[in-house]
Amino acid sequence: MYAQRVLSGMRPTGNLHLGHYHGVLKNWISLQAEYECLFFVADWHALTTHYDNPSIISDSVWNMVIDWIAAGVDPAQSTLFIQSRVPEHAELHLLLSMCTPLGWLERVPSFKDQQEKIHDKDLSTYGFLGYPLLQAADILIYRADQIPVGDDQVPHVELTREIARRFNFLFGGEADFEKKALEASKKLGGKRSRLILELRQKFQEQGDEISLERAKAILQDSQNLTMDDRERLFGYLEGVRRLILVEPQPLLTLASRFTGLDGQKMSKSYGNTIGMREEPDKVVVKLKKMPTDPARVRRSDPGSPENCPVWSLHKIYSNNDLLSWVKDGCKTASIGCVECKKPLIDSIVSEQKVFRERAKPYEEDIGIVKNIIADGCERARDLAKQTMRDVREAMDIDYT
Ligand code: TRP
Ligand code: SF4
Repeated sequence: MYAQRVLSGMRPTGNLHLGHYHGVLKNWISLQAEYECLFFVADWHALTTHYDNPSIISDSVWNMVIDWIAAGVDPAQSTLFIQSRVPEHAELHLLLSMCTPLGWLERVPSFKDQQEKIHDKDLSTYGFLGYPLLQAADILIYRADQIPVGDDQVPHVELTREIARRFNFLFGGEADFEKKALEASKKLGGKRSRLILELRQKFQEQGDEISLERAKAILQDSQNLTMDDRERLFGYLEGVRRLILVEPQPLLTLASRFTGLDGQKMSKSYGNTIGMREEPDKVVVKLKKMPTDPARVRRSDPGSPENCPVWSLHKIYSNNDLLSWVKDGCKTASIGCVECKKPLIDSIVSEQKVFRERAKPYEEDIGIVKNIIADGCERARDLAKQTMRDVREAMDIDYT
């Protein structure tokens, strides 16, 4: 059985904060035992918006990988690499650009949104328009099945699916496709071959998705197929084309928005963050200064937790007993805000202590991080090269 492949990337544009941990990294960590996971530093994607100040990127790359490891991403289980070290991403991006309609890119919501929102730099560049296509190349080059992303990124995964479908349609045709597909199916053995053809018919005649899924599972389980035959049969199940590129699924991270020090979403651009490995003394000062329910002016005034950013953090860090203590104590003014913050501060600081301890050997010897990434890049590159061989062949530019 092939393990499903998960792929995700993160842009290196500064130190990671607790919002990244609770919103993204915890999810990555929960996936790595179950799936084959590839996680990469999307440095080219960062360049699309930070081309005028790339030093932020180079300063963040290694630290970001340390933050991942500090959070519990395990380099022994997951492949960690840097996008620009696998130049095949750029080749696939270029080749896909040949057949991507301009309108598909102009319609991606993040393109207009960001252009309207960001005024301090010029984002009417070729690279920025191509952002989601580069992302499609990142995904398709690994034939990734599942893409963990936040809801803002779902349109990018949808676009990736459309690009894959169009590519397969344009370049997956073969003169004697049907004959080759039938020959390939015979290699599965009589019984399974017949079953596959039956399931295909059910799907094609009645649109029965369950039959399609069953047939795919059988193909995935069969060891005695070459890569080419597998692509042919996958394509044959759904139509009469080879599936050279695989359509991925978004794996939606239900990122409950993580509250920053001022009650807004935690984000570097609001200056309201707590770094994953920030010094405890500084963290304590920040949390002590954090505003509370503005209506609770005096210690004797009762407060409303719903109007208090400290409460939002309690909801993430505290157990039910503690939550009742906060709620009752606040509403009846039997506890003060300083007292209320105390257990929260303890939880945050002890969470960060684990991060700092995990990070320590890597901070002391950055060579270990560089070796992990070198290994990861090599593994990623082997996978990318296989796909590029098929892509070049399909596009008839392998000139062998
Ligand atoms: N665009 C993503 C973000 O801003 C980062 C990214 C680049 C990515 N390539 C990817 C995510 C491929 C998933 C898969 O968060
Ligand atoms: Fe906020 Fe706690 Fe103060 Fe209530 S007691 S206002 S929840 S900090």
